[in-house]
Amino acid sequence: MADYRSVLGLLAGGGFCSGEEIGRRLGVSRAAVWKHLQKLEELDINIESVRGRGYRLVQPLELIDPKAVFAGLSGEAATLVDHFELLESVDSTNRHALDAGLRGDGCYVCTAERQTAGRGRRGKAWISPYGRNIYLSIARRFESGIGAIEGLSLAVGVETVAALQSRGAADLALKWPNDILWRGAKVAGILLEIAGNPEGPTTVVVGIGINVSMSAALARGIDQPWADLASMPGADAGRNGLLTALLDRLLPMLVRFERDGFGPWRERWESIDAFRDALVVLKIGERAVAAGRARGVDETGAIALDTGDGLRYFNGGEISLREAR
Ligand code: BTN
Repeated sequence: MADYRSVLGLLAGGGFCSGEEIGRRLGVSRAAVWKHLQKLEELDINIESVRGRGYRLVQPLELIDPKAVFAGLSGEAATLVDHFELLESVDSTNRHALDAGLRGDGCYVCTAERQTAGRGRRGKAWISPYGRNIYLSIARRFESGIGAIEGLSLAVGVETVAALQSRGAADLALKWPNDILWRGAKVAGILLEIAGNPEGPTTVVVGIGINVSMSAALARGIDQPWADLASMPGADAGRNGLLTALLDRLLPMLVRFERDGFGPWRERWESIDAFRDALVVLKIGERAVAAGRARGVDETGAIALDTGDGLRYFNGGEISLREAR
């Protein structure tokens, strides 16, 4: 069925296409073409119209193609996927993955072109416009409950940075526990959610949001400095290649993590620690509970703070740079 996505498929490369040609190629009327173009504008996809040449996207984009993503996967990663789903629009891929239910021993993977209620950490919204970024959730069963996932979000951060680096991104760092920063601005975030028995078999959903080619207009809703892959010199902002790179690293990592815990990722995490040796404040909610120099993380992913009376370790909370006094 021809819908706005088919029209987008014709325009995605950035070339001009006349209304007549779109109608002919999709076998629909000019009125239907017009309706689909209107729908694209509603999705914040700006289209330029030039007399005598037709329509083109102001900013070309790459639609997600599950076949291309899957074809690029290594054999190991491919065998770990039980189900791969592309959603056109969903409230939250994490919510969807939690409700989808696992169908085997492997992973359930879903990604979406847009989220209407993307979830960030600490109850914040994750701005998720159509066709521009990565919204990815991976669900997997962990047999021994939530104790076994201590440090998992940090390991996900390390592998997400590795995937971004494999696409040419440089100057990336991690802010404990798992914010991915480019030159100090947030480019990606990670949200883990769990369902089931905290003591026994648990379903863990790993949610990753990456700003690839963020809409500056929509990004006005982001309450902190942000960056996107398209602005990084030398980085390839193709979303299909990035999805493959992410799954190639994250799927085998989840298996290894269940066996070995965070230990194997600790050194790599510390090598890209944005706040190493900086003076920081640790807050839980709005309450500052400790301040000191950040001294890396332990085998469980807890942050070590040198508070003046030795190292103290914290598993939860948020850190920020302490204002100079
Ligand atoms: C953060 O606040 O840093 C975490 C952001 C996590 C966003 C991703 S996008 C895919 C997945 N689905 C969601 O609703 N949230 C996560």
